[in-house]
Amino acid sequence: METGLSILSNDFSRLGDELKKYGRGPDFIHMDIMDGSFVPNLTFGPPLIDSLRKITALLFEAHLMVVNPAEQWKWYKKSCGRIIFHIEALREPQALLKEMKGVKKGIALNPATPAARIEKWLPYIETAFLMSVPPGFSGQKFDSGVLEKISRLRKIIDRKKLKCRICVDGGINLETAALCRGAGADSVVASSYLSGGNILKKLAALKALR
Ligand code: DX5
Ligand code: ZN
Repeated sequence: METGLSILSNDFSRLGDELKKYGRGPDFIHMDIMDGSFVPNLTFGPPLIDSLRKITALLFEAHLMVVNPAEQWKWYKKSCGRIIFHIEALREPQALLKEMKGVKKGIALNPATPAARIEKWLPYIETAFLMSVPPGFSGQKFDSGVLEKISRLRKIIDRKKLKCRICVDGGINLETAALCRGAGADSVVASSYLSGGNILKKLAALKALR
């Protein structure tokens, strides 16, 4: 299964070296952008991501946990090939989806937000991004309520022959990734699970899930 690595659990003083070491292990790098308002935590922004852009050719995915994605998505389009914003941050995503050009677009859903909130937008996005923990921190427990949302969206995407992929973020390890895969997810993002032990071996096992 396609697997992204979130740098949230990394040692931020050694990010460049660690990204180099991963090589082509992860399928993409997931950047958790938190503004201290949409979520009770603050991470990093364009200067750090732009610096890391020189280290690896892997796709960067910006996960915008910010109150104003309509303004801030532009800050990331230079370095991030995929930009994901939260549906909870907007009343109406139509204008933003229309404006976002030149990047792959994704909409994220918090665990408490029903899948129905994004069904209408599936034809216009590349990724339906399902959170399996409340956003803000790595190392939280996987909420299995996401599995039902995955199956529901999988059915719609297949029935309508849409190109939208389903990615799951939060509490991912080999076991929870297998559950997501079984329910119909295309991709997962992991952070704390990959932060100890043999990262490349763990990535290979996640990627081998069929
Ligand atoms: C949480 C972030 C996740 C987080 C995942 O707000 O969006 O990407 O880094 O961390 P783990 O894999 O430890 O749950
Ligand atoms: Zn994330």
